[in-house]
Amino acid sequence: MTMTADDIARRLTESDKKILENLTTQLSPVKDITVNAGLDRSAALNSIRKLLGLGLINRVNEINLRYRLTALGKRYLDSGLPESVIFDFISKGKEVNYKQLNNLGLDENELSAGIGVLKRFGVFNQINGKISVSSEEADIVNKLQGLLREIETKGSTNLVDMTENLLKRKIIEREEIIAENASITKFGSQVSASPSFGSKLVDKLTSDVIKNWKDAAFREYDLNANIPLPLSGKKHVTKQLMSVIKEVLVSMGFAEMESNYAESAFWNFDVMMFKQNHPDRDIQDTVYINAGRAKVDSDILSRVKAVYENGFSRNKYDTSLGHRRDFDTEKSKAIIMRGHTTATTFRYISRYISKNRDKPAKYFSVSKVFRNETPDQTHLPEFYQIEGIVYDDGLTVADLIGYIKAFYGKIGINGIRVKPTYNPYTEPSLEIQAYSKRLGRWLEVGNSGVFRPETLEPFGINKNVIAWGFALERPLSLLIDSSDIRTLYGAFSDLDFLRNVELRRVTGSLI
Ligand code: PHE
Repeated sequence: MTMTADDIARRLTESDKKILENLTTQLSPVKDITVNAGLDRSAALNSIRKLLGLGLINRVNEINLRYRLTALGKRYLDSGLPESVIFDFISKGKEVNYKQLNNLGLDENELSAGIGVLKRFGVFNQINGKISVSSEEADIVNKLQGLLREIETKGSTNLVDMTENLLKRKIIEREEIIAENASITKFGSQVSASPSFGSKLVDKLTSDVIKNWKDAAFREYDLNANIPLPLSGKKHVTKQLMSVIKEVLVSMGFAEMESNYAESAFWNFDVMMFKQNHPDRDIQDTVYINAGRAKVDSDILSRVKAVYENGFSRNKYDTSLGHRRDFDTEKSKAIIMRGHTTATTFRYISRYISKNRDKPAKYFSVSKVFRNETPDQTHLPEFYQIEGIVYDDGLTVADLIGYIKAFYGKIGINGIRVKPTYNPYTEPSLEIQAYSKRLGRWLEVGNSGVFRPETLEPFGINKNVIAWGFALERPLSLLIDSSDIRTLYGAFSDLDFLRNVELRRVTGSLI
């Protein structure tokens, strides 16, 4: 497929065009095009690469050699080169001898280098231990005196002889400056003269552009371009950590739960005794789906309704008043994208644990949850949760903390701490924190607790049940030293980063 000059013009970005325009309006080759076109250097270099590839420009790079003063050179700039200091001293004094030169504050090397230079230019005389200078050589002497200032401002000196000498004495050093000079090719001129070159094409999508896309003229892309592909694929680092976590939890005796992303409000909220007007249920936080009504088992629904409205009384001491509000079974049937995987935990309590109440059970899931959030450095509307539940006799908060520490230790995160928090469905509730050296502060990595009796009563369970929900991306960011969750997924993800990132190896883990 051959492309016309106009086809190419429709593929150019604004910065590509600026460079071409610059080259057509100035005498070619244009010196240092990145500076000339007034572009940010990295954007300009990208464009230069592209324009070269398309054959629109030629590059005539020029390496310019300059000299600059070293720290020693800068000192001499103030105090004068040793040769100038010596010259001054001798020319002002009478009957000067070598010994007196020792009072000039110059060390042995400086003295011999300075005298050496003066001798080389033939201005240093020595007769019977007395030294003098020939001040008639004023030209040379003035030049020597202004030498460092000249190098500082021009990057070089006309006193060519001195350059090597100053380099050797480490008074100056070489500096290479690459100028990106470019000239336009014949094809480049055709492109910049083609009709589409002047039309402004959209090359950034904004919500306005998306709304009015039919009227917009877009910059074109070359879908047939030959793109070098990386040689091999690789498991996404999140999936890598998921596999590690699943192995860890299976090795701790947990069985994996199966689940769906869409859930009824009943299993996401009501079964856990969230009040039916709880703010978490608002559309600002929860993603509702317009997909009809969920079917909820009427038997379970009515038992949850009874506890919600009136509580229960197991015996004189073990009672609850409930919310003492009406429970609306219609609200339970809304379909939402689940906001936490604790919904799945309660399905398993209902389906398995309540039917085998004498048997200990441990379940986990590592799965996705959804919240109506604006993405930022630490939040995404979709993320993963590591859910866990332990059912057994005589469990306490100490067991809960023990499981949490054991789990995090196995994935290489030590020094966990917990602090009291609030959930409608656990009491006590513990927030879990880990220390991020990179951020220099404690991060919340999860939440946990002992389920409230009200949530278990409908299933005929009156033991302590411990459970947790950990965020997967938080420990992940600690293990890969990245502090922005958006680099991992979606429109802002960084493919180079994902290709190269390694999950840090941790002792005692299965990585
Ligand atoms: N569901 C809680 C959350 O989303 C975590 C949690 C699970 C807390 C189980 C206590 C018990 O953060």
